Amino acid sequence: MKSIYDKIVELRMQLRYHNYMYYTLDSPVISDSLYDQLCTRLIQLEKKYGKKNSFNKSNKLLKQIGGKKLHIFSEYIHKTPMLSLKSTNNISDINLFERRIKKYINGIDDIQYYCDLKIDGLAVNLLYKNGLLVSASTRGDGYIGEDITKNVHMISSIPKKIIGANIPKIIEIRGEVFIKKSDFLILNQLAVSNNKKIFSNPRNAAAGSLRQLNPNITRQRKLMFFVYGYGAFVSDKKIYSHNERLSQIKKWGFTVDQNSMLCSNIKDIIKFYNKIYSNRTKLDFEIDGIVIKVDSITFQKKIGYVEKYPRWALALKFISLDVETKIIDVSFQIGRTGIITPVAHFIPVNVSGVLISKASLHNISMIQKLNIYINDYITVYRAGDVIPKIKNVVVKKRDKLVKKIICPTYCLSCHTQLVYSSNNIFLYCPASFLCPAQNIQRLIYFASKCGVYIKGLGKKNIIKLIDYGYVNTPVDFFILTTNMLQSIPGIGKKLSNIIIDSINASKNVSLDKFICSLGIVDVGISISKILANYYKSITNFIKTNNDILSDIKGIGINIASSIMKFIKNKNNIYIIKKLIGILNIFFIS
Ligand code: IVH
Repeated sequence: MKSIYDKIVELRMQLRYHNYMYYTLDSPVISDSLYDQLCTRLIQLEKKYGKKNSFNKSNKLLKQIGGKKLHIFSEYIHKTPMLSLKSTNNISDINLFERRIKKYINGIDDIQYYCDLKIDGLAVNLLYKNGLLVSASTRGDGYIGEDITKNVHMISSIPKKIIGANIPKIIEIRGEVFIKKSDFLILNQLAVSNNKKIFSNPRNAAAGSLRQLNPNITRQRKLMFFVYGYGAFVSDKKIYSHNERLSQIKKWGFTVDQNSMLCSNIKDIIKFYNKIYSNRTKLDFEIDGIVIKVDSITFQKKIGYVEKYPRWALALKFISLDVETKIIDVSFQIGRTGIITPVAHFIPVNVSGVLISKASLHNISMIQKLNIYINDYITVYRAGDVIPKIKNVVVKKRDKLVKKIICPTYCLSCHTQLVYSSNNIFLYCPASFLCPAQNIQRLIYFASKCGVYIKGLGKKNIIKLIDYGYVNTPVDFFILTTNMLQSIPGIGKKLSNIIIDSINASKNVSLDKFICSLGIVDVGISISKILANYYKSITNFIKTNNDILSDIKGIGINIASSIMKFIKNKNNIYIIKKLIGILNIFFIS
């Protein structure tokens, strides 16, 4: 088992990698919520492990709110730090949030919350002196950002000069630069026609457009800017509410999103959340939740900050989103046991920060179950925030262009006629070890821990052995020599000896392991144990028939049928008989 320290080290490595992918390369590989979970886990482990041992290192890492940046712009030190937001996707955490803040304001009940949308763009800080835009910067690590003044001058929705009354001597306007969903689609269409790399989501498109060495490119991209806050705010007119400050900022010529709302209790906040959640797809910009902020600046000051976030604000993020797209094709993959898996290919869409373009349909019966056709509109989501899945077909949008999905009749690898499982759920290739696509995976499985276990022969080396023509069937593993192994790049004298010793050791194999190693459809280790207990020898097992199988407790008709299909295959029996001659297959009850 891994020690707490090992887990901390691993998490730090993961976070460093994700910071780099997100902030430096603008190509996140995990969702924000998964990233937040990793951060929370690291904090928990650090607490468990004890501050004095390792806290400093991770603290430094977590402090890199914005990760490392590519040094193409000069540095800009923020006058007041650009903090992050504590976030959750559990609505009930609002209660906890309120209870906590009340501790700092002597339990006062009359709290107003300013709720607005959490825009998925790029945080930008604008410094105005006596009404003139003097510099613009990215958030960077929260303390030091990049100077992007020249590029920001190209964004039309950012005033270069504040207009109106009460212009402050110094003000830092903070908000989100983003690109509209509709403009993002046009930008990517253009990229496709010019053979250029497409952006994986509007956030990356906005980041890529802003951090351009050539500000003229920024000008061509339609970037938008919504204000959500401010940093330094030095003015003769004293305004002590967030809402009123934003109204003033609006009067100065900035855009503040109009979907915000002042709420005076949790019930109203939840109502606001639900309204935004159900209307989010109608917005022409990406949001990933709502932000709840204590409206009173006096209260904000009393409630204060922790190192990374203000205690007076909370981001309530949405749980995985369903996104609509269009299915363009279905391909068919062949698995280890010969089962054909349909894979739906659709127009790439961004689902919670990651671009997805295909999803497994698991088995051919799913095609009927979903009632899906090529060119259908579908909604997709990421199960567990990771695995792409098709939720349903938008049948009402179906048009004449839809085409039936035709399942293959012959195996794409060996051209054997495919067969349906007895329950018609699976379509599979019965050629077993004779089918090249299955054979590679079957050989890997045979030598793995699920099978006879040959140490040193993992996927990579087995593929090399197949490539060299040394191994075609499981029988061939047992005629390998050290000379043959050493002729393969990457296998030296030492490893070849280990492999040969391990091959010899694997010759003593229990009956259940041996049955499992054959890779019969639906026959994993627990079914193999039932079969071993019943037949007690491999020769009894291969002589079985449907009547006998149907008598065994725990063996249903589908498993019985797949066993019969396997042992009716002459090549399978030929291989098993050869193995019986080489191995010592023993049974212990
Ligand atoms: S308030 C001190 N409000 O979310 C609090 N942030 O995860 C500062 N963001 O860096 C943030 N929409 O870039 C706030 N309505 C909103 C926001 C918002 C998007 C971003 C912002 C921030 C990040 C934190």
